[in-house]
Amino acid sequence: MAARTGGTLGARQLAALLADAADARPAYRSLARATGALILDGRIALHVRLPAERDLATALATSRATVTAMYDLLREGGFAYSRRGAGTWTDLPGDHAPRGVTRLLGAPDTAIDLARAAPELPERALTAALARVAPLLAEHAHTPGYHPYGLPGLRAALAERFTRRGLATLPDQILVTSGAQHALSLVLGLLARPGDRALTENPSYPNALDALRRARLRLVPVPVADDGWDVGITEATFRQAVPSLAYLVPDFQNPTGHLMPDEHRARLLRAAARCGSWLVIDETLTDLALDVPPPAPFASHAAPGATGQVVTVGSMSKTHWAGLRVGWLRAPARLVTELAGQRVATDMGGPVLDQLLALDLLSGTDALLPPRLERTRERRAALAGALAEHLPHWSWRLPPGGLSLWVDLGEPVSSALAERAGEYGVRIEGGAYFGADPGVFEQRLRVPYTLPPDTLREAVRRLAAALAEGPGPRPAARGPRWIA
Ligand SMILES: Cc1ncc(COP(=O)(O)O)c(C=O)c1O
Repeated sequence: MAARTGGTLGARQLAALLADAADARPAYRSLARATGALILDGRIALHVRLPAERDLATALATSRATVTAMYDLLREGGFAYSRRGAGTWTDLPGDHAPRGVTRLLGAPDTAIDLARAAPELPERALTAALARVAPLLAEHAHTPGYHPYGLPGLRAALAERFTRRGLATLPDQILVTSGAQHALSLVLGLLARPGDRALTENPSYPNALDALRRARLRLVPVPVADDGWDVGITEATFRQAVPSLAYLVPDFQNPTGHLMPDEHRARLLRAAARCGSWLVIDETLTDLALDVPPPAPFASHAAPGATGQVVTVGSMSKTHWAGLRVGWLRAPARLVTELAGQRVATDMGGPVLDQLLALDLLSGTDALLPPRLERTRERRAALAGALAEHLPHWSWRLPPGGLSLWVDLGEPVSSALAERAGEYGVRIEGGAYFGADPGVFEQRLRVPYTLPPDTLREAVRRLAAALAEGPGPRPAARGPRWIA
């Protein structure tokens, strides 16, 4: 729908076009950016009169000041011009406003991102790996390049890694995926039907909860409290709910950072086997063992000879780089074949280049990991120190691994604080986002320690200032979220 050149764009019409942008923060910038994009792709025509500020504010359910700032930014970017007292019209930026355009459309987001707990990959490690991989890619260029199970060399390396960690694994048991999240979606597509029950931890990793909900499973939450899992309650829940599957993150659980004791693992394997449930074990964070030896794979705790129904999910995202989009799953070979069939129907296989890079980086893990863990410990200490200094009434337990603190705020202000923090240049999600049940964990905040110490200290100063100011203006529904 493109508004006619020279016409007038109604407030409700523009508000409908901007629906996705209205909830992002800061709103004026995201609204201006979205309007500029609509003009550039022709959905809003040139020289169309934009709605009066007051009308658009009403249609967007926002403040007049937000719309004023949005129009200012559009003018500054060259996407609008005004005639005093007559109105504001759309325009395309010419040579007169190159800096404004950058500000509007390409401006780097200067907010400190505490919504994503994922490390960066040092540039040198990436460029060196790319150089090593280039000739290998050239060899692959002579083949069709489809590998629905994953590159054979990468499958073999991953199988060998499981075996070395105490769980004998053949390459046939590995499927390379586009990240752990993709692995989980594939598994849900095969092992669960709408209406089935899925046991989950509470709190848990929000994107996994989202995948379970989108598969229309009924969540059966079990608590992960300050002292970890209550294995008795979890066993009883298996007995009573008889879930089709259970999704667990036993290694440095996201968001609590807990590590499940070995004895609990053996008991949960037995509990799941008794009721025929599949266990989907997310070991994405396994290698981030900061204060303890790296845990053995969950499935290695099965009784000898037991043919447990376990799918183990893993990823390069937390040890190397999420931008690779390389993960995997380990499952019985028969299931891997079925899952590969399913994956052909969606993407035919992962990119060869990404997998070659993953294989190269994986072979250097033993050298890369120790300094990376040391740096993560320093960052964790910097975050804990800054919290103790600026927010002394907040409390947390230092997790033995993983990438975040699960902080107790002492009062149920988490969503409101997250909202206000946006205005102070900090992106973060409230604790409720991690809940399997709506409305819980309002007293909690997940604070990752993946950024450099100085940035973390600045983020904490901003959080303290945001908290001092009080709740955000509109702790309401938001658009699609981006956390990790
Ligand atoms: C427990 C857990 N599982 C899965 C993922 C997503 O991993 P990937 O980037 O490999 O899809 C994350 C990322 O934050 C995670 O914490």
